[in-house]
Amino acid sequence: MPGAIIEPENPPDEEGIHHWTTLTDAPKDHKKYFGQRHKFFSKYDEGIWMTDDAWFEVTPEPIANKIAAHISEAVGPEKSVLIDAFAGVGANAIAFALEGRWEHIFAIEKNPAALKCAKHNAKVYGVEKKISWVNGDCFDILPQRYSDMGDKAVLFASPPWGGPGYSTDKVFNLSTMQPYSLDFIYSRFSRVCKTMVLYLPRTSDLNQIAKFAPEGKKLEVAHYCITGASKALCVYIGDFNFPE
Ligand SMILES: C[S@@+](CC[C@H](N)C(=O)[O-])C[C@H]1O[C@@H](n2cnc3c(N)ncnc32)[C@H](O)[C@@H]1O
Repeated sequence: MPGAIIEPENPPDEEGIHHWTTLTDAPKDHKKYFGQRHKFFSKYDEGIWMTDDAWFEVTPEPIANKIAAHISEAVGPEKSVLIDAFAGVGANAIAFALEGRWEHIFAIEKNPAALKCAKHNAKVYGVEKKISWVNGDCFDILPQRYSDMGDKAVLFASPPWGGPGYSTDKVFNLSTMQPYSLDFIYSRFSRVCKTMVLYLPRTSDLNQIAKFAPEGKKLEVAHYCITGASKALCVYIGDFNFPE
């Protein structure tokens, strides 16, 4: 019913999933992230579910929305499938679904607790049914299930960056990124889909990224900022045409 108030659903009584309502709910090392909860999800108070790691891994909603808009404006109509290879608690998948541009959206996530959060969070945003949820390792699942979709797909990847400590590096070394290096991700993903967007630390070493530019072509790299400060960057590889 339009305008109906939906009561927030309590997180399942399950290890690793929570919804903190006050600062005192948050453990000491998470308190600084709790203050940003509405930046992460504007509908946080409607009962968003998180895992401990999601507090420092989630893509803030304004950035997720901007990335979704940038992808939509830069790909041709032949691209109809969006695959989010590291879906986490769902911020990017939700933004892609809200765009309404994709025939199919697949959200792959290895951690069942995070996937449960993502599905639930998508329900809070009213887009749960627009996304196919896949629990498993993207490096296995992509070649098994999506090889035949490569030409019409865009692969979005926000891999783990090795924990919150990444932000202290002046220049972030993508060759030693944990648990997957940029080379590993690119080599595995490019066997399935040549058009991909990689969401990486804002201090990523651009020389390590430049080598993925096809002969004679440019790569687009965009910084995504909140209140004037870059939070992360995206590398756009493959069939993207951004307006000049
Ligand atoms: C940086 S987080 C993604 C955050 C997500 N964009 C969001 O906004 O919530 C990376 C996620 O990748 C998941 N992950 C790590 N290795 C994976 C793999 N091989 N296949 C699928 N998911 C994986 C982790 O469990 C984690 O939830």
